[in-house]
Amino acid sequence: MQTSTQATAQPRTAYDLVGGRSVVRDFVDRFYDLMAADPAYAELRALHAPDLAPMRASLTDFLSAWLGGPRDWFDERPGVCMMSAHRGVAMSEAAARQWAEAMTRAVTERVPDKGLADKLAEALSSMALGMAGVEAA
Ligand code: HEM
Repeated sequence: MQTSTQATAQPRTAYDLVGGRSVVRDFVDRFYDLMAADPAYAELRALHAPDLAPMRASLTDFLSAWLGGPRDWFDERPGVCMMSAHRGVAMSEAAARQWAEAMTRAVTERVPDKGLADKLAEALSSMALGMAGVEAA
């Protein structure tokens, strides 16, 4: 028998705060659209396969898990981390800066909570620069 109608308080994840999968997919799509269209990101674009569709899906799944949402990306890739996922990628400082700048633009444009967007852009930028061994400014 139900004795209470009060919902148990659940901690909200960053995934919830960002707006869930539709917002993650939206800023990921914007990121790849910028990468494909803006010549400022040509070096980064050239590292990727011609078809960006698999990357749009993979980065959406990765970031959903990273933000505390569904963990499918990790469940489907046991033992894989961000460094091993990039083992064959010729990382350069220029490409990492392009990644950080395009992602900052995408997140700033598409995450409705501006304070959260700034924090997210900063965290992802420092991840990208760290992966290339570059100190954040
Ligand atoms: C530091 C600059 C970065 C560069 C130059 C870079 C470049 C690449 C390239 C070339 C690929 C393979 C794409 C393809 O096969 O078409 C890739 C895959 C991927 N990258 Fe990055 N990346 C960077 C940073 C990041 C960061 C910071 C994240 C996460 C926040 C990320 C997430 C991913 C994911 C999830 C994949 C797909 C892995 C898979 O599906 O197995 N990348 N990246």
